[in-house]
Amino acid sequence: MHELSAKNRKISDMFSSIAPTYDLLNHYLSFNIDKLWRKRAVSMLDGKNALDVATGTCDVAIEALNRVDSVIGVDLSMGMLNMGAEKIVGKNIDLVCAAAENLPFKDEMFDNVIIAFGIRNVPDKISALYEFKRVLKPKGKLVVLEFNKPIYKTFGAIYNLYSSVFLPFLGKLISGNRSAYTYLPSSIKYFPDVDFLKSMMERVGFKNVFYVPLTFGVSFIHSGIKE
Ligand SMILES: C[S@@+](CC[C@H](N)C(=O)[O-])C[C@H]1O[C@@H](n2cnc3c(N)ncnc32)[C@H](O)[C@@H]1O
Repeated sequence: MHELSAKNRKISDMFSSIAPTYDLLNHYLSFNIDKLWRKRAVSMLDGKNALDVATGTCDVAIEALNRVDSVIGVDLSMGMLNMGAEKIVGKNIDLVCAAAENLPFKDEMFDNVIIAFGIRNVPDKISALYEFKRVLKPKGKLVVLEFNKPIYKTFGAIYNLYSSVFLPFLGKLISGNRSAYTYLPSSIKYFPDVDFLKSMMERVGFKNVFYVPLTFGVSFIHSGIKE
């Protein structure tokens, strides 16, 4: 694995500490809606192969095999990758431990780059977006699935209460790590809004960039094409 920045080492340690209960909590805390969101994002992939950045425990990589022939999953947490490795035995998925900002792949290798619930955690988002563009083939597609701030005020208030009170409580109860689950709402709060993320993708050079809300804007999919 390449040398990680101090920020990325901290993030890697945090995800490794919650890795054993990550899948269980993910599905419980989202009432399984996370599975539908990943399916929707993966349905946008085309072509033969995909790079799943921040693959974690490999749910997106596994789902992506319904759309493409082969997938490489990359993540900076060995703890998350080890959990994922148990789920991909016999599947056409390879795993690599590396950071999104410094991908160990040649230029123009992939038809698709997908990142689900990962870009929010990446400290240097612009460098990561440049890396995604570099490893995409011309006409290749970037798909970003990420939490954001819900569109409707009343729903947003209920969701804020849920994510700032209930979620850290259950997260601590099951994973033993409260801070990882207080990190989630605060990282969403400081994440660029949907138009800003779109403009970042355009600034890096992606074309036809658009976004779609999922479940009242709890999550969004952004997509763009490399020219
Ligand atoms: C919330 S999990 C999402 C995992 C998976 N994509 C999913 O849909 O469940 C975020 C993942 O991003 C990884 N991650 C965070 N920052 C990263 C970075 N800079 N480069 C690569 N992976 C990163 C973490 O290790 C973690 O596995």
